[in-house]
Amino acid sequence: MNPWRDDFPGLAGWHYLDTAATAQKPQSVIDAMAHALGADYATVHRGVYARSANMTLAFEAARGRVAKLLGAPDTNEIVFVRGATEAINLVAQSCGNGLKAGDRILLSQLEHHSNIVPWQLLRDRVGIEIDVCPLTENGLIDLDAAEKMLTPAHKLVAFAHVSNVLGSVLDAKQAAKLAHQVGAKLLLDGCQAVPHMPVNVAEIGCDFYVFSGHKLYGPTGIGALWARAEILDAMPPWQGGGAMIDRVTFEKTTFAPPPARFEAGTPAISEAITLAAAIDYVEGIGLADIHARERTLVKQARDAMRQMNSVRLLGPEDSAGIISFVVEGVHPHDVGTILDEEGVAIRAGHHCAQPLMDHLGVPATARASFGLYNDEDDVAALVRGLERVKRIFG
Ligand SMILES: Cc1ncc(COP(=O)(O)O)c(C=O)c1O
Repeated sequence: MNPWRDDFPGLAGWHYLDTAATAQKPQSVIDAMAHALGADYATVHRGVYARSANMTLAFEAARGRVAKLLGAPDTNEIVFVRGATEAINLVAQSCGNGLKAGDRILLSQLEHHSNIVPWQLLRDRVGIEIDVCPLTENGLIDLDAAEKMLTPAHKLVAFAHVSNVLGSVLDAKQAAKLAHQVGAKLLLDGCQAVPHMPVNVAEIGCDFYVFSGHKLYGPTGIGALWARAEILDAMPPWQGGGAMIDRVTFEKTTFAPPPARFEAGTPAISEAITLAAAIDYVEGIGLADIHARERTLVKQARDAMRQMNSVRLLGPEDSAGIISFVVEGVHPHDVGTILDEEGVAIRAGHHCAQPLMDHLGVPATARASFGLYNDEDDVAALVRGLERVKRIFG
């Protein structure tokens, strides 16, 4: 039994195990969105009427809510973006243009395409070199290897805090220490960490942290970039338009201080305010409790799947709410389709991590990912569905 499941109208009669792709929304978030798009709706930052002033207060309070979630010392260190993809592109374009040919950055073998392709675009623009940190046997980013690879030519290390395929959790503090030893900055892709565990950027000691709201039980179209104030201060704008300026003439434009400098155009107003409602909901339950509960479910599921000799489990035992696996001789898409017939939703494919698929030697995996609303019934349904896959494919 899960005490929160009934808060999610989208879950009725469904075993949803695809939270790593996007999380279902609790009623409080749906209601917050309805208010923010309805009775409360107005623009922000420029209205001379009360509704707009109130909306501005709510929008800026949402920024404060994100700062608190991440343990960021200063609210103005939070830049609202469309999601993690946009946040990484922002850093790659704004900071990246300050890099020069011969500078190096370090990524890892398990990165999501959003933490690979923006750096390749930068490489093609300015001629930097990209190095790829290997993984340990059980699918963690190999920080011993990272230490050996890092040199003073490295300006940035960009790692997933949690892998979206294997659920492996990075030792983020150690990654920050290693990056800083050579004078590089550390960017963490927190998409799969923030919904599953408490995160504190000050304690980790990283320089950039990014996440997407829709994976944290909030709406699509909103996410956040956190960067230390002195880093943001030194970063040039990456997009031009309204709201990011100080003074515009045809001869010259001066720019607003962060975070406005990086938020050109009308922002995702209702989405940001609703993200704050999602954070309230998640923190009302407690991320440490969510983490503990999901760990138990992952263990139950892995233990049961290990009994099936046709199932090969990938990744570490103590993954953060994510299990990737292959059923020998059955394409992951067929696994997904049969499970769907049983009312179980998983993801099958390369999960936007093709270099990781190459490393694993498979074209695709099946992935079951857990959220705060899952329980033992979902695990049992997954196992029943996999037994059916076995019966059908012999
Ligand atoms: C680890 C990781 N990074 C980045 C992303 C990209 O997130 P979005 O598509 O919301 O920008 C995802 C989404 O699947 C992810 O899991």
